[in-house]
Amino acid sequence: MTTYSEEFKLVARPGEISFSKGLDGVVAAESTKSYVDGLGGRLVYHGHPIEELAEESTFEEVFFLLLYDRLPTAAELARFTGQLQQHREIPEEIYAIVRDHAARRGVHPMTVLRTAISALAVFDEHAEEDTPETHQAQAVQITSKMATVAAAIGRVRSGQAIVHPRSDLSHAANYFYMMMGRVPDAFEARLTDVLLILHADHESNASTFAALVVKSTLADTYSAVVAGIAALKGPLHGGANEQVMKMLESIGSPERVAAWLDEAMAQKKKIMGFGHRVYKTMDPRATILRGYAREVTRRAGTERWLVMAEQIEKTMVEKFAQKGIWPNVDFFSGVVMASLGIDPSMFTPLFAVGRSAGWVAHAWEQRQDNRLFRPRFVYVGPESEPYIPLAERK
Ligand code: ACO
Repeated sequence: MTTYSEEFKLVARPGEISFSKGLDGVVAAESTKSYVDGLGGRLVYHGHPIEELAEESTFEEVFFLLLYDRLPTAAELARFTGQLQQHREIPEEIYAIVRDHAARRGVHPMTVLRTAISALAVFDEHAEEDTPETHQAQAVQITSKMATVAAAIGRVRSGQAIVHPRSDLSHAANYFYMMMGRVPDAFEARLTDVLLILHADHESNASTFAALVVKSTLADTYSAVVAGIAALKGPLHGGANEQVMKMLESIGSPERVAAWLDEAMAQKKKIMGFGHRVYKTMDPRATILRGYAREVTRRAGTERWLVMAEQIEKTMVEKFAQKGIWPNVDFFSGVVMASLGIDPSMFTPLFAVGRSAGWVAHAWEQRQDNRLFRPRFVYVGPESEPYIPLAERK
């Protein structure tokens, strides 16, 4: 009989191998894209602080920066913007997938987004080509079309007619237009742009890592992005923004916050929108969004969401800051997106529209200096079990 542990040393005994649950603290790759300083509360995209980009830049420029590791010249930005505009429209078959599935009961928009982006590969005759040109073309095409698919899902879910993309608006303004059916005013367009910039990249987050694992097998970029969408969907990652809004809705009013929190803490519930694997202080994206939350809630008459959020923040920081638990990007983004008129179920798709830039940029980076991701598991199962014939098993 083969004892695998003897032959292949698959069974680790306590102390033989150390491992980090959830790959906590494990460095998986080198990257030039973004840097997270978890103690200092800083986020930098290729040398540019997130605050600067949120103030000065546009999603198009940030996407170029992530893809090519430098800010574009005016001519390059105009060309890149034109490419993004040119690829917005999606095949009728993709609209059909959205129409057929987005309004089904119990179907999450991220499920439809994942399905539709996967199906997009079928309509790209170059999907399997592994050249620098196709990688870069797909990076632009997928990111451009992601906004169209996400917006269409929202429209179908709410029983409204799909709004086709326009090619004369910025990426953010066009996304807003397709979601809402009207061109945003300057404030709404800027805020949508800021939301996309803030969500565009975040080092080795779970969804980017998932995309990289797939890319490292030399699978196509669509497959990598689909893996990213799948990982982003979960409530511990991109799905947290929707959960934050559900939490605020279930609390209902500022007067109920204290009692609700007391009970949640007594039950040792995790409070959505708080805590982060890397940040042990305030997430800088949350600070930026809290600033915007003031203006957008005032304009929308939704100030009570912000009042409640700030009450929760105050109590959580008092109780948990020492433990390194602070608001993350998802905490205030919910209030901001809801006040822009976006349905909570469509918050995570917006996150995906922004993060698409990071997924494709990292996938391209991975491809340029690839090595298969293949970590080990510590096998803690039995060393050897007898094979009992089926009829004799109890
Ligand atoms: N509320 C209350 N306690 C928390 C929270 C929270 N939101 N987050 C972590 N903790 C506590 C845990 O209970 C645990 O306590 P213990 O040591 O007493 O058992 C400790 O902090 C460590 O928590 P872990 O879950 O082990 O930390 P990890 O680094 O694995 O998880 C994560 C990070 C998943 C983000 C976690 O903080 C969490 O679940 N937060 C809520 C979901 C959320 O907001 N996700 C979005 C993250 S940002 C993003 O992905 C875009």
